[in-house]
Amino acid sequence: MGPLDLLLTRRSILPLEGPEPTGAELDALLRAATSAPDHKSLRPWRFVVVRGEGRRRFGEALAAALAEADPRVTPEVAGRQAEKAFRSPMLVAVIAAPRQEAGVPRWEQLASAAAAAQNLTLAAHALGLGAAWRSTSLRDAPLIRDALAMGPHEELLGWIHVGRVPADARPAPRRPVRLSDHVTELTLDGLMGYAGPEGDDADDAAEADPASGR
Ligand SMILES: Cc1cc2nc3c(=O)[nH]c(=O)nc-3n(C[C@H](O)[C@H](O)[C@H](O)COP(=O)(O)O)c2cc1C
Repeated sequence: MGPLDLLLTRRSILPLEGPEPTGAELDALLRAATSAPDHKSLRPWRFVVVRGEGRRRFGEALAAALAEADPRVTPEVAGRQAEKAFRSPMLVAVIAAPRQEAGVPRWEQLASAAAAAQNLTLAAHALGLGAAWRSTSLRDAPLIRDALAMGPHEELLGWIHVGRVPADARPAPRRPVRLSDHVTELTLDGLMGYAGPEGDDADDAAEADPASGR
């Protein structure tokens, strides 16, 4: 598969199976993540690998944070939250670690960390692994931050589940995007609609796709 096909065919897949990524695969995922665009090479990110029994620690933090946020949460609901960590053999938490003194705006550093996360999902796809980016509305909960040893300026951007794609997984084809809905062009006369090449397949397919809601 060429690099462009790789981008176009990536889908989130969950649950994922073992065996967990090998050491070499994990290394490749992390190398890809750390190749993200990064103004002034600040490396404003860090990653926490969670696998094996480590998933229990992470799942317990998710469940405890939920129970703390809402005392009405039943043990069953908290248990389901904890099980989220076990939807793949490994997950990689992505933490933005912006440097305040560096003269690069915080948002640029967060964007770099998000790009690192996406690089990781694409690298998984390139290696024939499955991946899915997940997060929680409780990402600022002290119990979760403590579990990941997060400093006060750090921000959890979620985690990437990684594992083997089950034989029966059937990720739906991506719903086509009508580019003209999302793209304009700035000209000397101002913003103009985007006119793709005549007969743009994606635009035609989007028009034909009843699920596109148009
Ligand atoms: C930062 C971030 C957090 C996300 N968190 C969740 C999540 O907690 N639950 C979820 O169902 N999807 C979440 N998503 C969306 C999925 O990762 C995925 O992109 C979406 O289901 C569309 O599937 P696709 O990647 O195959 O296009 C998140 C995406 C991002 C960028």
